[in-house]
Amino acid sequence: KKDQPIGIFDSGVGGLTVAHAIQNQLPDEQIIYFGDTFHLPYGDKSRDSVQYYSTRIADFLLGYNCKVLLIACNTASASAYEQVTQHVGDRAVVFNVIDPVVQYLSASQVKGTVGVIGTKGTINSGTYQTKLGEEIPGLEVVALSTPLLVPMIEEGFIYDDISNAIIRAYLSHPSLKGINTLILGCTHYPIIKRQIEKFFNFEVEIIDSGQMVAVPVREYLQSNGLMRSRGSPVHKFFVSDYTEYFEKISRMFFEENIHLEQINIWK
Ligand code: DGL
Repeated sequence: KKDQPIGIFDSGVGGLTVAHAIQNQLPDEQIIYFGDTFHLPYGDKSRDSVQYYSTRIADFLLGYNCKVLLIACNTASASAYEQVTQHVGDRAVVFNVIDPVVQYLSASQVKGTVGVIGTKGTINSGTYQTKLGEEIPGLEVVALSTPLLVPMIEEGFIYDDISNAIIRAYLSHPSLKGINTLILGCTHYPIIKRQIEKFFNFEVEIIDSGQMVAVPVREYLQSNGLMRSRGSPVHKFFVSDYTEYFEKISRMFFEENIHLEQINIWK
């Protein structure tokens, strides 16, 4: 039904970049956000663990009667999208953050070499490489895991010397030489998007996986008559472990007084 909320989850603050994009595209929708800070980072966990966390979080969000579930995490999108979709069945529609990027690049007939950076889980799963290869035959894709970026961002090292040094160390990898497009295959990375753009002298198109998903979600709600029409929704933000930085960054994205609640769904 129209008034049901949109459920969004990630391991931490990264999914807030997605929630923010959803709020911009769909300002009347209510968002229920879950950041699994207790298990962060997902990028180093096994596929089984990420699938288990994701299906449990889906159940938690369904407890709020969400009409749509948005896996706002590339690692979980790569490893657990099918499981979550099966598990949820017809209780809600599930979106991941990888397919919209592949569809966008296919529609824009991207050429040359595309780079993808993400967590070890995302890159080692080969999901981007496989899906891009199937959708855009002949496209050259180079994938690089950049595992320090999530802890760096969660610790608040952004737009400073430490983050500049780490970003430079990763992005000067020879495999990324010559790319014309870079997919930020982790929803944390848009927080440091300007630093990444600057590293490439603003000559590489940077694709934000979280931004991309807001469009298909809006289209789905529109074409199914599920758009909420009453304004001023009160969003809810849950974390499985309280961190001060989460609170700070959620205020950066959602200026209004946000409700941040710690909840232990892992008992
Ligand atoms: N935002 C998650 C992603 O998009 C972060 C993963 C992590 O917790 O390592 O992959």
